[in-house]
Formats: sequence, structure tokens, C-alpha cells
Amino acid sequence: MTTQTANNKVKNQVGFTLWFTGMSGAGKSTITNILEKKFKELGLKNEILDGDVVRTHLSKGLGFSKEDRDANIRRIGYVASLLSRNGVITITAAISPYLNIRQEVREMHENFVEVYAKCPLEVLESRDVKGLYKKARAGEIKQFTGISDPYEEPTNPEIIVETNKETPDESTNKIITWLKENGYIEI
Ligand code: ADX
Repeated sequence: MTTQTANNKVKNQVGFTLWFTGMSGAGKSTITNILEKKFKELGLKNEILDGDVVRTHLSKGLGFSKEDRDANIRRIGYVASLLSRNGVITITAAISPYLNIRQEVREMHENFVEVYAKCPLEVLESRDVKGLYKKARAGEIKQFTGISDPYEEPTNPEIIVETNKETPDESTNKIITWLKENGYIEI
């Protein structure tokens, strides 16, 4: 790639935050990883802020009470707002179970696209990739989202991906198409 091309692409890039919300195992991380590859292929600067990863540094020490989850989400929202206002496509993948804090981080942004990774609880429990639902049912993990802690569904997300009905690639394409149709990316 020539410098000329790189500069042009950077100049034309619109920064926005693609905010995923959804329960554990709903496919947030899987889809964000595919999206990251696609954006890279398109030469678009992007960054992922994944709850599981953020909790190892920026939010280290925080637990899963409402207070701690809110602090985690505010931190992710703050960093996402800084990145996206500087032209970076910022993809977040945290459960972010509470409506009021999602609304708060939305208001911190100029360009905010909420993606609801929707999947029925019984499907999540039958998949149980990390074995956490079983532990939550057994009471070994407290305050587990969907089992012993609330998940407040988005009332008006820009995009809904139904991960029990769509493959990760189909969900990714749905998001890319929406972004294209709404002027966030040019491809
Ligand atoms: S959030 O509620 O603050 O947005 P976040 O996305 O960062 O949560 O972290 C969720 C991840 O932490 C889950 O995917 C799971 O691996 C792990 N986890 C551990 N304990 C819990 C719990 N009580 N509720 C939900 N997820 C938990």
C-alpha cells in the first residue's frame, strides 16, 4: 500500500463505536473478531474493547455487582468515545446488561451503533461453551447474567443479530451492510 493510499483512507474514515450487548456466550466476541479482520482487509483502523480482556487490565479488580459492572461499562465507554472521535472504528464486546448505563455511554458519543447479540437463554445454556451457566445454576458463580442477575434487553438497538438463527458470518455481513447503507463505511 502506498502512503498516498493510506493517507486517503485515513482521511475518509468515519470514527464510530459499534457497541455490542448481549449475554455471555451470545457470540459477541466471535462476531467482533470476524469484523476486525474485515475492517483490516478494508484498510480501516479499528480497535476491540472486549469485556473479558478489559477486565484483565483497565477494569482489573472489578466484580459483577451492578456498581462494578457500571464502572466497567463507563470505562469502556469512555475509551471508546476517545478512540471513535479520533476516527477509529471501535468495537466493544461486553455484556453491558443495564439499559441506563448503555444510554449513558451512547450520550458520550457522536457516532454510536448498538448491536444486540440476541440468543435465547435455553440455547446459551445448552451451548455453555465456557461451562459458566452450569456453574451459575449450581450456585458456584453468583450474580450470573441471565440466571441470577438481570439482563435488560435493548429497546431500540440499531442492529439485532440473532445468533441462534444466523451463522457468525451472516451476522457479520448484516452489520457490514447496515454500516454501508447508513454511511458509516464506504466499500
Ligand atoms: S459486564 O456485565 O461488566 O458487561 P463483561 O462483559 O465485562 O460483563 O464480562 C463478562 C464475562 O465475565 C463473561 O463472558 C464471563 O466469561 C465472565 N463472568 C464471570 N462472572 C460473571 C457473572 N457473574 N456474570 C456474567 N459474566 C461473568
